[in-house]
Amino acid sequence: MTSDIWHYPRTELAKQVLGMFESGLSSALVFFAPRRMGKTEFLLKDMRPLAHRHHWPVLYFSFLDVGVHAKEVFTSALVEFAIETKVMKWEKFQKRIKKIEAGISGVHAGFEFRDPNEAKTTLKEIMQALAKQPHKTLLLLDEVQILALDEKNKYFVAALRTVLDIYKDSIKVIFTGSSQEGLRRMFSKSDAPFFHFGQNLPFPEMPRDFIEHLVTIFHRATHRNLDAESLWKIFLKMNRVPQLIRSLVERLALHPDLTVQQAEKQLLQDLIDDREYATIWDNSSVLEQLLLKTITRGEKELFSEAKRLALAQKLGIDELSVSMLQSTIRSLKRKTIVGSLPERGGYSIDDPNFKNWIEQMTMGGENKLF
Ligand SMILES: Nc1ncnc2c1ncn2[C@@H]1O[C@H](COP(=O)(O)OP(=O)(O)OP(=O)(O)O)[C@@H](O)[C@H]1O
Ligand SMILES: [Mg+2]
Repeated sequence: MTSDIWHYPRTELAKQVLGMFESGLSSALVFFAPRRMGKTEFLLKDMRPLAHRHHWPVLYFSFLDVGVHAKEVFTSALVEFAIETKVMKWEKFQKRIKKIEAGISGVHAGFEFRDPNEAKTTLKEIMQALAKQPHKTLLLLDEVQILALDEKNKYFVAALRTVLDIYKDSIKVIFTGSSQEGLRRMFSKSDAPFFHFGQNLPFPEMPRDFIEHLVTIFHRATHRNLDAESLWKIFLKMNRVPQLIRSLVERLALHPDLTVQQAEKQLLQDLIDDREYATIWDNSSVLEQLLLKTITRGEKELFSEAKRLALAQKLGIDELSVSMLQSTIRSLKRKTIVGSLPERGGYSIDDPNFKNWIEQMTMGGENKLF
């Protein structure tokens, strides 16, 4: 159980996943979902507690800050985990590793390998020891697409895949990441390091019941009532980003004199003021900006003659070639701003809050810029 009262438990989904692992139906899953949809929260507050209840040791690890040192930082975390769960003793590692104040990435205080090559041996040994345990082990590997960004991590990724393959009956993995394009590069392209390793599962969007849950918790916390229907409408308008609707409700709880509409307006203003999005926008070319707007509007068949003509007109040029358009899309994908949708020729904005930002800036409201 989690102590976060606002958390909407997704127990059914967690049970389904654990069931697939337990039955041996699968050993690795990849959650494809846009950013900010609640993947990390699901791993930490639903998946981990459920696996613990089944006596599985669980390691959550985010590759977000590992940079080029994935091998060392991940293996250090694994060493810590092996000791904590009493799978191995510290003495086993003593010769190869020294304890240090702050780890390589500055994030992970812990261990340093005397010789970096020993990280690989250590990785194998720990996985082997985990596999011998009476219960299965669950690895929750978040932001895993980061590994694809740097060539230096190539050998580590290959080693990880090999060792996970060997022990797949006992060591189960959930991979998630915030960039669909990045995950595709890790798992779906034919030359991807984890090609066809995990089964892709779409991460379901929050149902209406999530809103009912927020209304109930709001009532419990404040003894005031919220109208579920209007909250649901706002949630849909905000592209179902759980983080936004939750901060709206928290804001209402903290400020009893605010109306729902005022809180919504404040929230959108905060979003618009987000410098991160303004910077991405300013660093994009005019054609990139036009494409972002087009994709945000949900338009399809971007390569059709009519679409290209319309874009060319907006750019003030005679013609926009298919190859020019393709290379611009490629650049947006490389920057992980845009991802491909499963249907051919469909694209989406990776971060739904950036999509909300573009919508606010281009389409509606008094803040409209262009
Ligand atoms: N089950 C839930 N119940 C209540 N709130 C949730 C839930 N899931 C997500 N949220 C809200 O949404 C926010 C974002 O969730 P989370 O960080 O898990 O998303 P994410 O998909 O991991 O995003 P990113 O891809 O950017 O890492 C949380 O901080 C929380 O406020
Ligand atoms: Mg996350």
